[in-house]
Amino acid sequence: MKDIIRHLVQQALHQLITDGVLPEDTAPNIQVENTRDKTHGDFACNIAMMLSKPAKMKPRDLAEKIIATLPANSNISKVEIAGPGFLNFFQNTDALASRLDAALADAHLGVPHKTPQRVVIDISSPNLAKEMHVGHLRSTIIGDAVARVLEYLGDTVIRQNHVGDWGTQFGMLLAFMEENTVNSQADLADLEGFYRAAKKRFDEDEAFANRARELVVALQAGDDNCLSLWQRFKDISLSHCQEVYDRLGVKLSMQDVRGESSYNHDLPKVIADLTAQGLLVEDNGAQCVFMDEFKNAEGETLPIIVQKAGGGYLYSTTDLASMRYRSRELKADRALYFVDQRQGLHFQMVFALARKAGFVHPEMELDHMGFGTMNGPDGRPFKTRDGGTVKLADLITEAEERAYVLVKAKNPDLDEQELKQIAHAVGISAVKYADLSKTRTSDYSFNFEQMLSFEGNTAPYLLYAYTRVASVFRKTDFTMDGNIPGQIHLHAEQEQVLAASLARFAEVLNNVALKGTPHVLCTYLYDLAGQFSSFYENCPILTAEDQATRYSRLRLAALAGRTLKQGLELLGLQTLERM
Ligand code: ARG
Repeated sequence: MKDIIRHLVQQALHQLITDGVLPEDTAPNIQVENTRDKTHGDFACNIAMMLSKPAKMKPRDLAEKIIATLPANSNISKVEIAGPGFLNFFQNTDALASRLDAALADAHLGVPHKTPQRVVIDISSPNLAKEMHVGHLRSTIIGDAVARVLEYLGDTVIRQNHVGDWGTQFGMLLAFMEENTVNSQADLADLEGFYRAAKKRFDEDEAFANRARELVVALQAGDDNCLSLWQRFKDISLSHCQEVYDRLGVKLSMQDVRGESSYNHDLPKVIADLTAQGLLVEDNGAQCVFMDEFKNAEGETLPIIVQKAGGGYLYSTTDLASMRYRSRELKADRALYFVDQRQGLHFQMVFALARKAGFVHPEMELDHMGFGTMNGPDGRPFKTRDGGTVKLADLITEAEERAYVLVKAKNPDLDEQELKQIAHAVGISAVKYADLSKTRTSDYSFNFEQMLSFEGNTAPYLLYAYTRVASVFRKTDFTMDGNIPGQIHLHAEQEQVLAASLARFAEVLNNVALKGTPHVLCTYLYDLAGQFSSFYENCPILTAEDQATRYSRLRLAALAGRTLKQGLELLGLQTLERM
């Protein structure tokens, strides 16, 4: 609808330019917004206010001229002037109803495919020294949701789990493995314990620390023994990650892993390329690139160090190599990095350098989709009671346990197996949704009580809303998939409000795709659930006065149910038929 309105206004403005009412060079950005109060129409446009100066007219007078010039369109029933000169558009409810009928008949809910792109999603990317902890949650969950939305809209998504599998921490682990004959898989099963023991030795014993440093050098020089131990450690570590991904229901597999080590062979070439382009400057023995646009507070240009004095490579070097790979081999149109906000400057700098050095093709979009920190309920960094980092696996277990108690209290009669299944879905969904529903860039406090509440913008509330729709259909011979006869008619206000929301699904998804902001979809679904609930309470469905109304309302309910389910699935949440 917004596109239609923008197009109509555009046509009107063209006409007014031809008529000499507006100057030749008028090229406004036409903004159309949803109105809050539906008595003032469904959409509002402030164009008359924006153009009143160049037109040398009062906004309301210009608004009148625009309305008189607007081409007729069957989707619009009327246009009014409001306040200082807003154009308020009223949607034609018959046209709206038939669009929803068409959406209901379509397995893809009437959501058109966008121009398909190849999109790399840099997702999760933990450092493989220890088990995943809460700090890895946001990248994994937000990246997964955006990837799903892009796929739904027709993009080809290439997930890249850029794990840190080549850093100095591996020397420590290798030295520890050397010291303690590690025989079975079982010895390494407690990865966290193993890592901590190695770190303790490293901090306490100078000889051990030196051996660890030697082993990093040996590893990076390709020593066979080191490499095979490293590989073994990496396999175990990755299988721990995979367990977490599977429990979270995140679409990531071993195929998506392309760690820092995989760019190893290419790093000398990155340096050679930068040298050939005359971009490198030696500074205290290190190889650096200086770009004028990056200065510190004192006005000194900041370096990007790409090779250390001893010859070692850095995080930036690997990122340059991976960008080149993503552009040349993966042929990406976009690369979206779901990485902690605090790495913002790093990405600004390597993106700029990659462009300057021609490592990515000029039209390729590089975007750091940064996110804020996850704090504990007290607003301070999230820690266990004894001050340690919280393992993601433990957090998930706690979420499931808490959900179990909750669901059991509500439904004491459920059999154990179903109870467990529901608790799993509710617990995981609660954790994921709490994260997804916050503005990506803000910090947020992790709070079990809040996220497991059945009230407010939470997963339990939304999952429950879906089960209410499902329960309506259990009482009929129809399914939500469109075998309901008749047509949608929009009479009651609650029907119209719900319908207008349902018609916005595609727009919301496109927004998420463009900006990498799943919280926009969360807010939409939360509103939709509320609108369904007022519709449900005010417009009897199964006991409607006549058959045409019953069918119409069932169709509306079916579309609401499917939109909710689809939306939740795109966020990576598993819906339940009952709970
Ligand atoms: N391993 C890094 C960390 O834990 C994140 C990597 C993000 N991706 C990238 N291409 N730099 O901080």
